[in-house]
Amino acid sequence: MTHKIAVYRRARFNAAHRLYCKDWSFEKNEEVFGKCNNPHFHGHNYSLEVKLIGEIDPVTGFLIDLNELREIIREEVEERFDHKNLNLDCEEFADLNPTVENITVVIYNILRKRLDRDKYEISVRLYETENNYAEYPI
Ligand code: NI
Repeated sequence: MTHKIAVYRRARFNAAHRLYCKDWSFEKNEEVFGKCNNPHFHGHNYSLEVKLIGEIDPVTGFLIDLNELREIIREEVEERFDHKNLNLDCEEFADLNPTVENITVVIYNILRKRLDRDKYEISVRLYETENNYAEYPI
């Protein structure tokens, strides 16, 4: 009998961004991205949910030590993105539009490297607002 289970950890960070395509005119960017194209940027309170799936360790009863997961998320996501301008401060978005979709994939790829592939499947959900969020992979 296996004990496959999912464990979740939430984290929050605040960041600014601007959505635009640098090869487009200002008018075209306004048409596609609207207020999100504000050249002076705007901010969001992002809420991150990281899901891990795997087997319960029969000795500890843990899938993962949640303190360890909290520290990985703090180091890799919060320290990297909290109170940053995603476009200007974060190399991940130097050539990538910081949409909720792209930020979600970036965070997944960062966390995937830190969490043992043999032990954990992971997925990431990122809320940009209460009602808008992305999930990867699906
Ligand atoms: Ni925005």
